[in-house]
Amino acid sequence: MKSRRVCLLAATIAAAGAVSYVDAQDPTATLPDGSAKTLLVERCADCHPLESVTDKRKSEADWRAAVSQMQGYGVALTPDEVDALVAYLAQNFGLTPRRK
Ligand code: HEC
Repeated sequence: MKSRRVCLLAATIAAAGAVSYVDAQDPTATLPDGSAKTLLVERCADCHPLESVTDKRKSEADWRAAVSQMQGYGVALTPDEVDALVAYLAQNFGLTPRRK
């Protein structure tokens, strides 16, 4: 019985922690939806803040060049992932953003 209570308490704390984390600093909350959003969040925020990417505006060609430069720094992306990411970046952080 006692251990069940402890377990419930731990779960409550974990849930509360997760909620405040999302509120305070989940960068995905402000990102436009898209196929490559997860990719961007998981691969592109290790070495610099995500804002180093999302505060830029580039053409598709320039995004492709930037992503391949990041591959040179060690970011692991398959060719399909590069295409998805470049398309997502060009669409949402392009020179003519199509944000809603
Ligand atoms: C292995 C570390 C690392 C990862 C992971 C990484 N970057 Fe970078 N990034 C850097 C470094 C170092 C710089 C600063 C040097 C520079 O500007 O060339 C940088 C700078 C940038 C810049 C600013 C320079 C420019 O071309 O405008 C952009 C945009 C960028 N990264 C995009 C990305 C994207 C997109 C991803 C995910 C695919 C990513 N980064 C992941 C290391 C990384």
